[in-house]
Amino acid sequence: MTEKTDSKKVLVLLGSPRKKGNSTTLAKKIIEGAKAAGATVEQIYLHGQDIAPCNACYACQKPDSKGCAIDDDMQPIYQKLLTADAWVFASPVYWFTMSAQTKLCIDRCFALLAFGKDVFVGKRIAIAMSYGDADPFASGCVNALRTFQDVFRYVGAKMVGMVYGSAEAPGEIESNHSLMEQAEALGQKLVKS
Ligand SMILES: Cc1cc2nc3c(=O)[nH]c(=O)nc-3n(C[C@H](O)[C@H](O)[C@H](O)COP(=O)(O)O)c2cc1C
Repeated sequence: MTEKTDSKKVLVLLGSPRKKGNSTTLAKKIIEGAKAAGATVEQIYLHGQDIAPCNACYACQKPDSKGCAIDDDMQPIYQKLLTADAWVFASPVYWFTMSAQTKLCIDRCFALLAFGKDVFVGKRIAIAMSYGDADPFASGCVNALRTFQDVFRYVGAKMVGMVYGSAEAPGEIESNHSLMEQAEALGQKLVKS
C-alpha cells in the first residue's frame, strides 16, 4: 500500500548570501523530496530582501492588530508563511549561530501572532544548516539548531527534521552523499501526512 500524500504547500526561506551555497544545496534536496511527494514549493532568498529588524513597537500584539507595522519585504512573506503548510529554513552558521538574514526573518515572525494565536500550530518545519568546522558542536551549529527547536516548540509548530553538515566552498556539501539522501528523505517526510 502506498502512503497517502496531500498536495501541501512548502515555503523555503534561504538565509545564505551564496545562491549556490551549501545550506541552499541542502535545501534544494529537501525541495526535490517534497516535490517528489507531490508538494508545491516556493523559495525565497532572504539576502537582498528589504527586511528590517523588529523594532519592538508591539503593534502586532495589540488587540485587532493588522500585523507588522513595518512596511517592507516581510509583508508578502507573511502572506506566504500563513498559507504554507510547511516551512524550510536553510542557513549557514555565522559566528556560532544562524545567519543574520535568517534571524531577522525569525524575529519578524513575532508579528504572525496578529493573524491568530494558533497560526504556528501544525506548521511543519524542516531545517538545513552548513558550517565550516568539522564538528557540529565546535562550529556553533547546535546553538542554531537549539534555537530553532526552542522557537518552534514554543509556538506549537511541528519540527519534522533537521539536516546539517560541514562544508566550506559553495556547493561542496553535495559530495556528502548520505547527507544529500537524508535531505531528500526529509523533504518527503515534511509533506507526508
Ligand atoms: C561571516 C562568517 C562567519 C562564519 N562563522 C562560522 C562559525 O562560527 N562556525 C563555522 O563552523 N563556520 C563558520 N563560517 C563558515 C560557514 O558556515 C560555511 O562556509 C558554510 O558552509 C557556509 O554556508 P553557505 O554556503 O550556505 O553560505 C562562517 C562564514 C562566514 C562568511
